Amino acid sequence: PVLVVDFGAQYAQLIARRVREAHVYSEIVPHSITAEQIKEKDPQAIILSGGPSSVYVEGAPLLDPAIFELDIPILGICYGFQVMAHQLGGVVDKAALGEYGKTEAYIDDAESILTGSPAEQTTWMSHGVAVNDAPEGFKVLAHTEGAPVAAMANKERGLFGVQWHPEVKHTPLGQDIIENFLHKEAGLPNSWDSSSIIEDQVAKIREEVGDAQVICGLSGGVDSAVAAALVHKAIGDQLTCVFVDHGLLRKGEVEQVKHDFVEATGIKLVTVDASDDFLSALEGVSEPERKRKIIGEKFIRTFEKATRQIVAEAADKGAEIKYLVQGTLYPDVVESGGGDGAANIKSHHNVGGLPDDLQFSLIEPLRTLFKDEVRAVGTELGLPEEMVWRQPFPGPGLAIRIVGEITRERLAVLREADAIAREELSNAGLDRDIWQCPVVLLADVHSVGVQGDERTYGSPIVLRPVSSEDAMTADWSRVPYDVLAKISTRITNECREINRVVLDVTSKPPATIEWE
Ligand code: XMP
Repeated sequence: PVLVVDFGAQYAQLIARRVREAHVYSEIVPHSITAEQIKEKDPQAIILSGGPSSVYVEGAPLLDPAIFELDIPILGICYGFQVMAHQLGGVVDKAALGEYGKTEAYIDDAESILTGSPAEQTTWMSHGVAVNDAPEGFKVLAHTEGAPVAAMANKERGLFGVQWHPEVKHTPLGQDIIENFLHKEAGLPNSWDSSSIIEDQVAKIREEVGDAQVICGLSGGVDSAVAAALVHKAIGDQLTCVFVDHGLLRKGEVEQVKHDFVEATGIKLVTVDASDDFLSALEGVSEPERKRKIIGEKFIRTFEKATRQIVAEAADKGAEIKYLVQGTLYPDVVESGGGDGAANIKSHHNVGGLPDDLQFSLIEPLRTLFKDEVRAVGTELGLPEEMVWRQPFPGPGLAIRIVGEITRERLAVLREADAIAREELSNAGLDRDIWQCPVVLLADVHSVGVQGDERTYGSPIVLRPVSSEDAMTADWSRVPYDVLAKISTRITNECREINRVVLDVTSKPPATIEWE
């Protein structure tokens, strides 16, 4: 692999994704990694990420110096570039001029990692520290107003560095730098794409599972669908999928799972229609945390019951269900090196709380993948496009998009309004610009309207389109007025109960993306 050493900002994941976009496999490791540990991983190249520190400050994270002697090509980016310059004897100090945002870089030599660059290029910078002198043996390839050394190379030792951020889209020629490093300097071929991912995973799953039986819960979302399809490709009918229909999905989503998905894959699917059960448990409940709790609990109990039955049926045939598939993605498992060098491991549980006597080993075929790769794999496996490109949708579903009590009538209204909004946003080609667009029914709010000369007293629908990178923070999307107008007109025309459509113009924070 190519190892991306994380110096503690949010850039490491972005770099790892760009490396994979260059068709080379990458993994993220914490900056506290030692030369010995690196040798064990046997990487073909290393990239040092940016980070929030200054190298000359006491306690700043540095690299095990022996790593520079391993004879593995290394590219330092931003803070990682300064670490390289500092640890190899260059002069790194507070910059005379800090550079933040768009910055012109002047290319002194368009060679090595800058091969193909024009004499000047626009870059995205974020530094208050600069490399004033490159270490001995390095050639200066570029400078900016605030950075006497903005890019450098030591071809004999295979060491390279760049002050700006080639991984961000605001550096238009950034990907060239990453590809020059990987392909030209480190000599790595294209070897990572969705068909190679599928081939790899299928082989791994077959080897691990052997002739055992496997179970997988489907949610209607991208991750569980792709995970299931991959496992099915590997072991066919040894896989049984369980889909709990809690009655809180959007228009068309149940059919998508029960028909389109099954048709595309041939997967053996057990559907549990538990909507009556969920809706009666939710009767009279309007407090959001109570809704979430009830749905979470019910979901586990329902899944458990279905699972027990499948386990029992398998046992009757002398088979044993040994594995449970989970759609965990790479961002959930990355060990990142925070400021103090301690590894911080996040783990994600989609199906928690199964009782002790239902113990399965986990299969996580998407554990090494980013979301865009999961989508590419899903497409390659022939899954329905609406499923592969589905925007994030919360587990508790429409229950937390009805502010107030949940009834079948209210669900039907919200389903219609949501379907209209989704259709019009798609027609306008905005699906991939918008992170997600919750459509919310303020069921207990009533306002006066006039439709066909008649007074109405209906409820408002809120549109909540947001842009985001990871849902941790978000901004409201500037959807064109004519698209909003169309959605508004159609919702008030087609949903009799709705006489007002409003737009949520709050970022996160202070608001959250969902209303509940
Ligand atoms: P908030 O509303 O907290 O949402 O800004 C952040 C992201 O998480 C999604 N979300 C959930 N996803 N189960 C989920 O699987 C949940 O209970 C849940 N609640 C919120 C939300 O849609 C957004 O993408």
